[in-house]
Amino acid sequence: MKNSTTATSEKLTERGLERRIKRHLSKQTFSYLATTTPGFENVLKEELKGIENTQSLKPIDGGVEFSGPLDLIYIANLTLRSANRVLLRIDAFVARSYPELFNKIVRINWELFIGFNKKVSFKVSSRNSRLHHTGNIENSVFEGVQSSMAKLGVSIENTPDAPVRIFVRFFDDNCTLSIDSSGELLYKRGYRTEVANAPMRESVAAAILLGLNIAQFDIIADPMCGSGVFVFESAMILKNHAPGSKREFSFSQWPSFNAEKYERFRNKSLISENKDLSVKLIGSDINANTVASAKLNCKNLSLNQSIELLAADCLEFNKTREMQSNGLVVSNLPYGKRVGELDALNNFYKKFGVHFRNVCKGWTFALIAADNKFPQHAKLNIVSKIQFENGGIPVTCFIGKF
Ligand SMILES: C[S@@+](CC[C@H](N)C(=O)[O-])C[C@H]1O[C@@H](n2cnc3c(N)ncnc32)[C@H](O)[C@@H]1O
Repeated sequence: MKNSTTATSEKLTERGLERRIKRHLSKQTFSYLATTTPGFENVLKEELKGIENTQSLKPIDGGVEFSGPLDLIYIANLTLRSANRVLLRIDAFVARSYPELFNKIVRINWELFIGFNKKVSFKVSSRNSRLHHTGNIENSVFEGVQSSMAKLGVSIENTPDAPVRIFVRFFDDNCTLSIDSSGELLYKRGYRTEVANAPMRESVAAAILLGLNIAQFDIIADPMCGSGVFVFESAMILKNHAPGSKREFSFSQWPSFNAEKYERFRNKSLISENKDLSVKLIGSDINANTVASAKLNCKNLSLNQSIELLAADCLEFNKTREMQSNGLVVSNLPYGKRVGELDALNNFYKKFGVHFRNVCKGWTFALIAADNKFPQHAKLNIVSKIQFENGGIPVTCFIGKF
């Protein structure tokens, strides 16, 4: 949205705010940024393409910019699987001094985004810019917002963690202001209360699965499933279950929030779910406690879909099953980062390769490992790979056929 000057300094009323929102926000086109884990920008772009009314999609490092009406905020947060957060752009301008920054902040119609919320928080970053001290930038921006709101008789506080959160980004002296519509990162779907070791973010697991066109498989298995992310995300994708339907978002605090409209979108997303899946979903892990956690997560998810979760060594996987299926094995393998673990891990990768090449011949695999030499140890032919970071560790998802 382009900045516009607050013409009057009359006290803000509920009715007045409604009128301003109608005048400035309805029927307008807005700019957005959906962020994702670097490496998955194109998956996110494809997801956004599938949402009606998204325009001008442009992948950038760690996200995709797009534009469209304000309703997109509801749909994007509810349905995007590979995104971490969705930001609504408020304004962008050059600022090379604090007075310049303050003056440009003060003229924005902040009431449209803050309304009568008393608490606001800020997240500031700066690179290659004359204004580089993030604490000073935050103070200056807050003072500008405070002054703008005070003219309307609304006093605000800068409170860390307040759900109304303004992102301030300086790059090459260009200041971009956005408001966070998501709140907690979108990988938090609201079903995973139990977390296993080195968990994979739901958004990353979903991005990997979306890139694999998983509807083609009749078995999807994670034989080292930890808290079960891959099997649950597979179920949600195949059922067309909106990943955000069980959680809350920051946009519900915005003065423009239309609860009725949002509920309509949410209900529509639930009604459009596929009812019965013929695919078999299997998650197993050697650690029985981990499997118990995965079962609790599965219960929270309440997808009404049968998912087999069992405690088992992956080297026992599929020994007794039908092998004719067109299956997918997708798994985040142990990384073994501690000293002394590497030899044992290489040995394990070797056994893993021998076992799966034997019992899942012809199946597709997508296997995540921290060791670049995993395919050599497991003797697997790789068709493609995706590099990304999981919990700060550089890892690769190796894709191919056993
Ligand atoms: C890196 S973690 C994967 C975590 C999981 N992807 C998640 O997001 O929660 C590796 C998992 O492999 C399991 N594991 C290790 N060796 C195994 C084996 N031989 N058979 C089955 N599971 C094994 C561990 O218990 C652990 O849960």
